[in-house]
Amino acid sequence: MAKIIPVPIFDCVVFGATGDLTLRKLLPALYYRYRDGQMPAGARIVGAARSVLSDDGYREKARQALEEHVLPDDLDPAMLQRFLGCVHYVAIDAASDGADWSGLRLLLDPARVRVFYLATAPYLYGSICRNLAAAKLVTQQSRVVLEKPIGRDLASAKEINDSVGAVFAEAQTYRIDHFLGKETVQNLLALRFANTIFERLWTSDAIDHVQITVAETVGVEGRAGYYDTSGALRDMLQNHLLQLLCLIAMEPPVSLDADRVRDEKLKVLRALAPIPAHRIAACTVRGQYGAGAVNGQPVGAYLADLGASEPSGTETFVALKAELQTWRWANVPFYLRTGKRMPRKVSEIVVQFKDRPFSLFPASAGARQPNRLVIRLQPEEGMRLDVMTKDPGPGGLRLSPTGLDIRFDTAFGIRFPDAYERLLMDCVRGDATLFMRRDEVEAAWTWVAPILEAWSTAVEPPRPYAAGSWGPTASIALIERDGRTWNEDAT
Ligand code: BG6
Repeated sequence: MAKIIPVPIFDCVVFGATGDLTLRKLLPALYYRYRDGQMPAGARIVGAARSVLSDDGYREKARQALEEHVLPDDLDPAMLQRFLGCVHYVAIDAASDGADWSGLRLLLDPARVRVFYLATAPYLYGSICRNLAAAKLVTQQSRVVLEKPIGRDLASAKEINDSVGAVFAEAQTYRIDHFLGKETVQNLLALRFANTIFERLWTSDAIDHVQITVAETVGVEGRAGYYDTSGALRDMLQNHLLQLLCLIAMEPPVSLDADRVRDEKLKVLRALAPIPAHRIAACTVRGQYGAGAVNGQPVGAYLADLGASEPSGTETFVALKAELQTWRWANVPFYLRTGKRMPRKVSEIVVQFKDRPFSLFPASAGARQPNRLVIRLQPEEGMRLDVMTKDPGPGGLRLSPTGLDIRFDTAFGIRFPDAYERLLMDCVRGDATLFMRRDEVEAAWTWVAPILEAWSTAVEPPRPYAAGSWGPTASIALIERDGRTWNEDAT
C-alpha cells in the first residue's frame, strides 16, 4: 500500500460545481482521497454555482455523480455518507459584480489553506478572481486552480494570466494540465533520471525520432459547445502533448524543486523550432471525423454530434512534426498526433532508436528493426523495450523483435489513482511541480500561434476521416515522407 502523505486542513471551493468536470472528475478524486484517509478531519468541499440548490440538494447531485463515476467496489455507503458530510453548497454567480459573497464567507475558515478551483470557462477566470479579492476572500494561504486551456491564443492567455495575477501571486496559481498527474507521466522523470541506461542514449546520437500519440474513442460527448470553439490543437496539443514532449526532451533539472523542473520544461518549449507559414501545410495535418464505427458500434459524424447544419472548420484530429533547436535533439523529429473517434483509446510515447550502422546478419535473418522504447500512459500503463532476439528452434538464424515488458498494474498490483487525486492534494500541500507556470503556457501558445493563424485563414477545410480510423491519410503521409511509420502496435 502506497504511503499516504498527510495534507493540511483545507477548504476547497469549486466554482462550476454543477458542471461536468466537477461531477465526473473532481468529486470522485476527492472521495478517493477521503476514503484513503488523506483528507484531514474537518476539511470542507464547497460547491459554488449559479443553480439554486440547498446543501442537501447538492449532496444528492454529488451522490449520483459518485455512484456513476466511482467503481462500485470502492463506494462504501457509510464512507460515502461521511464524505458527503464534508460537502457544502453556495449558490452564487461568482463572475458577476453584484454577487453576494456573505454565504461563502461564513463557511470559510481564515486559518486554513483555501483552494479556489475554477472549473468554469476560462473567460470567467479574471472576473471571478477580481470578485474574490473585492470580497476579501483571498488570504495568504489561498491558492487558485485554473483548468486548461488558459485562453484560446497567446493574447487571451496573457489577458487571463494578467487578471488572475492581479489577485494571486504566481506561487499561488496552479494551472492544471491533468496529464501531468497521471502516474505514468510522472514515471517519465523516474525513467529518465533514476536510471542510467537510458539517459546516456537520450540524444540525437542514438535516437532517430520520437512519436507521441494520444488517441481517444470518444467524440465530443456533451461538450460540443466548448469543443467547437477549441478543437484538437487547443484542447490537447497545446497543453497535454507539448507537456509530454517537454518531459521527454528536457535536460536533467538541478533539483526536483517545482521551479527547477519547470525551468527545464520552459527551455524545451522555447527551443521548439517555429513552423514558418509556408511549411504549415507540409508539417501539420488537421482532420474532422465523419460517420463511422468505433468498437463495432456505428457513430455519427462530428457535425451530427454538434447538431449543426452548417459545416464547421474545427479539427477533431491533429498530427504534426515538431523539431527542437538544441544540441541534444538536432535532427530528431517529434511526431505528435491526437484525435477523437479513433479505433481505440491509447496514449503512448515511442522513442525510436537509430538503426545499426552495419548488419552482421544475412538478409534471410529477417527485416531489421531498430530498438524502440514504448511508454504506455494509458490504458495498460507500462513500458516495453523492443530488442532483437533469435527466433527459437531450428531452421536457420532468424531475428525478430521481442519486448522487455513491464505492466505497472501487474508489477505493483494497486489501483492507479486518477490524475486529479494527486494534483488536488499537491495543490493543498503547496507543491506546484506538476502544474504549468505562466511562462510555460505562454511559450506553448507562442509556438502554436503560426499554426492557428494559418489554419484560420486556410481555404481548405479539415480533412475528413471516418470515425474509427486513425485519422486522415495525410497523417500517415506526414511521417512516411520521412521514411518512418507510426508505431504499428498503436495502429
Ligand atoms: C481533456 C480534454 O483535457 O482531456 C478532453 O479537454 C479529453 O477533450 C481529455 O477527452 C482526455 O483526458 P484522459 O485523461 O481521458 O486521457
